[in-house]
Amino acid sequence: MSHGDEAVKLPDGFEVVARSQQGAVAAVENREMRFFGLQYHPEVTHSPEGMDTLRYFLFDVCEVSAGWNMENILDEEIKVINDTVGPEEHVICALSGGVDSTVAATLVHKAIGDRLHCVFVDNGLLRYKERERVMETFESDLHLPVTCVDASNEFLDKLKGVVDPEMKRKIIGKEFISIFDAFAHELEKKLGRKPAYLVQGTLYPDVIESCPPPGSGKTCSHTIKSHHNVGGLPKDMKLKLIEPLKLLFKDEVRQLGRILNVPDAFLKRHPFPGPGLAVRVLGDVTEGNALDILRQVDEIFIQAIKDAGLYDSIWQAFAVFLPIRSVGVQGDQRTHSHVVALRAVTSQDGMTADWYYFEHKFLDDVARKICNSVRGVNRVVQDITSKPPSTIEWE
Ligand code: XMP
Repeated sequence: MSHGDEAVKLPDGFEVVARSQQGAVAAVENREMRFFGLQYHPEVTHSPEGMDTLRYFLFDVCEVSAGWNMENILDEEIKVINDTVGPEEHVICALSGGVDSTVAATLVHKAIGDRLHCVFVDNGLLRYKERERVMETFESDLHLPVTCVDASNEFLDKLKGVVDPEMKRKIIGKEFISIFDAFAHELEKKLGRKPAYLVQGTLYPDVIESCPPPGSGKTCSHTIKSHHNVGGLPKDMKLKLIEPLKLLFKDEVRQLGRILNVPDAFLKRHPFPGPGLAVRVLGDVTEGNALDILRQVDEIFIQAIKDAGLYDSIWQAFAVFLPIRSVGVQGDQRTHSHVVALRAVTSQDGMTADWYYFEHKFLDDVARKICNSVRGVNRVVQDITSKPPSTIEWE
């Protein structure tokens, strides 16, 4: 339900056909005019019979036919890219190692071939051995030419002392763009022509949660987070954006990736946020060895999930570093060490999520392993909130 807004007076001919538990108007209709209005989200998985409602509206009320499929999307997007990018123009794509940017790059590569130049930025906020793992897979599985830029010092310097999550996101977005601008400049020297476009793997949920809905005519709405590529970009960016996945949800991107023969190992990877571990180390990411601790904890957790055969049943799992210390006893010694949280959720599209039920034995094994092998951690907690009211990431 969209709380805070309420229909208090209906137009003539309309009647209320559903109310929320609190009595607010949730659905209205005018059968004669065939007008229907909902004030909740039928598209999210938490809405019972939401899909049936949408199907009924589309196929029975509007009488549209379901002739639309992923192959059409692929052809349409390739056409859009070819119409946008001139025959001599070059394009940059920032690869993160995740599903979205990989599928976006493969799609653009199919459209314009070697005028696409991919870059992978190590921002110092990556997971355990991520850089090595990703570069190896790009080369051996995807055959996409990728340049790796190590910018960890630049990012971490700028994040020193910053604790506000929105500020972190903005700083990271800005830094990414200045790295891409520099990369474009280097390419200009080589190609004699400056790349004009930047490909991003922005998805529809990113757009929804960062800005007003397209066509709504609003200039502002509730920004949940300056998410995901969208809100974090500086206004003076010189590169123009190409976002071929902007109208798709994650499960649709995975389908598109399959058509493009992107290896399953990529398609099945859990999502990872653009600002990386910066939104999983609460508080100042540069303080002490928080990032290092988080990497080790996260690796143990994810590896345990893979070993238990649970990886593909979970939308996303990760560890969070909390900026507090708690008292513990390890090897007969009092400790005053860090607390980490484990989070795993199931979801269809990232818009809503449920926390994942692990067996107690699994959690027990993981917590023991973390405390035994990661120096500086003496307490492990589990996050058992769904989205809403929480978001998936902690920041
Ligand atoms: P939240 O935390 O808003 O996240 O429930 C929903 C999904 O989006 C991912 N996420 C991001 N992805 N850049 C991204 O590319 C971001 O800034 C970002 N923030 C969150 C998150 O991991 C989850 O899958």
